[in-house]
Amino acid sequence: MKKVLVTYLILLLAGVALFTGCQKSGIDIGIAMPETHVARWVTDGAKLKENAEALGYTAEVTFGDADQTKQNKQIQDFITKGVKLIVVASINTGINTVLADAKKEGIEIISYDRLLMDSGDFNYYMTFNLEKVGTLQGQAIIDALDLDNATETKYITLFGGSPTDNNAYFFYKGALDVLRPYIDKGILQVVGPFPKTHTDKETFQQIATPGWRAEEAKKRMENLLTGDAKDYVLDAVLAPNDPVGRAIVEACMNDAKYDSIAKLPVVTGQDGELATVQYILEGKQYMTVFKDSRELAKATIQLADAILKKKTPNIPGTVKTTFNTNVKDVTTYLLDPVLVTKDNVKKIIIDSGYYTPEELKTIGQ
Ligand code: BGC
Repeated sequence: MKKVLVTYLILLLAGVALFTGCQKSGIDIGIAMPETHVARWVTDGAKLKENAEALGYTAEVTFGDADQTKQNKQIQDFITKGVKLIVVASINTGINTVLADAKKEGIEIISYDRLLMDSGDFNYYMTFNLEKVGTLQGQAIIDALDLDNATETKYITLFGGSPTDNNAYFFYKGALDVLRPYIDKGILQVVGPFPKTHTDKETFQQIATPGWRAEEAKKRMENLLTGDAKDYVLDAVLAPNDPVGRAIVEACMNDAKYDSIAKLPVVTGQDGELATVQYILEGKQYMTVFKDSRELAKATIQLADAILKKKTPNIPGTVKTTFNTNVKDVTTYLLDPVLVTKDNVKKIIIDSGYYTPEELKTIGQ
């Protein structure tokens, strides 16, 4: 009897060892996010992992600290660990060498939120309608300043995103397309550098925010206030995302001309960050564009699942199109971004449970 029990135990232990051995055999999906100084990527990373695990995949998330060399090492590490698929939002085209390495290993790549430019080593791109983000920002300025009925000139300063992020040009294009008729009519005047199109990369450099770093935007706004914008009272500032928007508001509030909420220019944003929800409720930032990363992450993992199972992808809630990397067209899925102002912030961001009650307590909701 004792012998039977011992044999049974040995078999049981061997079984457990085999099972855990299988489980440790590697990661299925590598998730390479670009940075943490913009809050959304932390949510994106967590939601991607959660969705992957819900479908039975193992997944690991890394953050590149806006440093492409660092992200390349993280991706090399994913390749070594034998991942089958990598979801990546890159920092710049310095990523292309590791994308080629991944392709050689037969690893599938999904370009996430940001398009991987100048590469032919991947086939899929999942993002929000980028131009619409800019359209919503531009239209919000038109509405807030009532430009259709304005009888005197209003003044605006322009900010762009990181010049190494392809998205930044689409955001700018969307905004400029709707603002241009008012600029042409002279009812809106640009103070400071003005890239006439999103393809004017040289002038775009002058309005850009390197690495999407808010401190860079704050410095630039401070310089504008004592330089190009010294003799004007600004009515609006086009800001590409929330951290940049808040940096602009902070710089303005330190200037006697704009030192109360009522005197602040109309400032735009993007991402629906918690600190910006507070700014919107207080009337410091006029709007944000909400891009629900829960939806983007879910759609991305649905796509990953189809690719890994060699099925035809069918991604509900997206519009299918193609984007060009300068090397090839890639199949692209677009989600819909949503305008958020003081009027609907509660409904869109808070009631949908985007922030937990604990997080909301920190802004007194
Ligand atoms: C994203 C934005 C984000 C920015 C800075 C862009 O590529 O689309 O949502 O605010 O990067 O991280």
